[in-house]
Amino acid sequence: MKSKNLIDLENLSVKEILDIIDLADKIKANPSEYENACRGKILATLFYEPSTRTRMSFSTAMLRLGGNVIGFDNPQNSSISKGESFKDTLTVVGGYADIIAIRHPLEGAAEAAAMFSDAPVINAGDGGHLHPTQTLTDVVTLYNEKGRLDNLCIGLCGDLKYGRTVHSLIKTMSRFKGNRFVLISTPELTVPQYIKDVMNTAGCEFTEVSGLREAMGELDVLYMTRIQQERFDSDEEYQRQRGVFVLDNKKLELAKKDLRILHPLPRVDEISYEVDDDERAKYFAQTVYGMYARMALFMTMLNGDRSITEKRKSNGLFNALQCMNEHCITRHETYLPKRYREYGDMLVCEYCENTRKREFI
Ligand code: NCD
Repeated sequence: MKSKNLIDLENLSVKEILDIIDLADKIKANPSEYENACRGKILATLFYEPSTRTRMSFSTAMLRLGGNVIGFDNPQNSSISKGESFKDTLTVVGGYADIIAIRHPLEGAAEAAAMFSDAPVINAGDGGHLHPTQTLTDVVTLYNEKGRLDNLCIGLCGDLKYGRTVHSLIKTMSRFKGNRFVLISTPELTVPQYIKDVMNTAGCEFTEVSGLREAMGELDVLYMTRIQQERFDSDEEYQRQRGVFVLDNKKLELAKKDLRILHPLPRVDEISYEVDDDERAKYFAQTVYGMYARMALFMTMLNGDRSITEKRKSNGLFNALQCMNEHCITRHETYLPKRYREYGDMLVCEYCENTRKREFI
């Protein structure tokens, strides 16, 4: 693997993604052959936000490869509660562990972590931005359950605005030929502009619809997501959005026989329990694929080419410019150097990908 860190799946080539899928399948078929593949390695899981699957599947993956795990699942139990900065925590843990998986409520946190940690960093979810290892989980599931990653009609339903799993999945599936997307959400919770730009640049067709029923018949994959209460600015706003989309057996009557239903979980009320018994429901199988995907990722990252260790720096040009996204890590850890890349007449924050027009500077 060329890239030292996994912040976005863009850090992997399509070939590297396919190799990880292949390795995950091999491990699943023959787990005992890999039980020493990471012997002596230490994973640190730094979870600044709640998690069940992601943290436990990272830990299980390392333990099943013969490695060990350190970390915290609640920052209040660490020196963060004494006021230690993000920079200091990451610098220290980067010296203890061989690899770090970090989840944080602020967007761009994993990118920032990689600036301070000597150990490679995996983004286990940064606010409403990205969640690349969930996408690895999703592609391993799709490859096994659909037999291909191209020419699929993929419906994504629910919280497409704050859903980091949705953003990473669209970015990745746009890299495979012939995929098209049906975005099913309320107008308030549609995907951010930078995700639309990704689909347009890749030449992927996408439509935005407001009901599950109208989309159902054409889908090969339906990716359901939860409305994420914790990302809303007010409870009132959340109450307006919750419970709008519910998948049940009645709606499934309109779907193809070989539809596959995925969900990153946790589920709240967007999939009725009756759907669990439908053979098209793959969201629990998906959690198991996720563990193998993370095992394959560890093996790839820890045994790969580590020659590229350069830490990224600001070019200094835009240092005075504050990111306009109030959920961006640079707004909270204010010592972080500002970093933007230029995209036409736009500037894109390299932490959270928020875009702004150049004319504002
Ligand atoms: C997702 C997440 O944390 O973004 N869950 C997960 O990692 N499996 C989705 C969610 O919390 O709704």
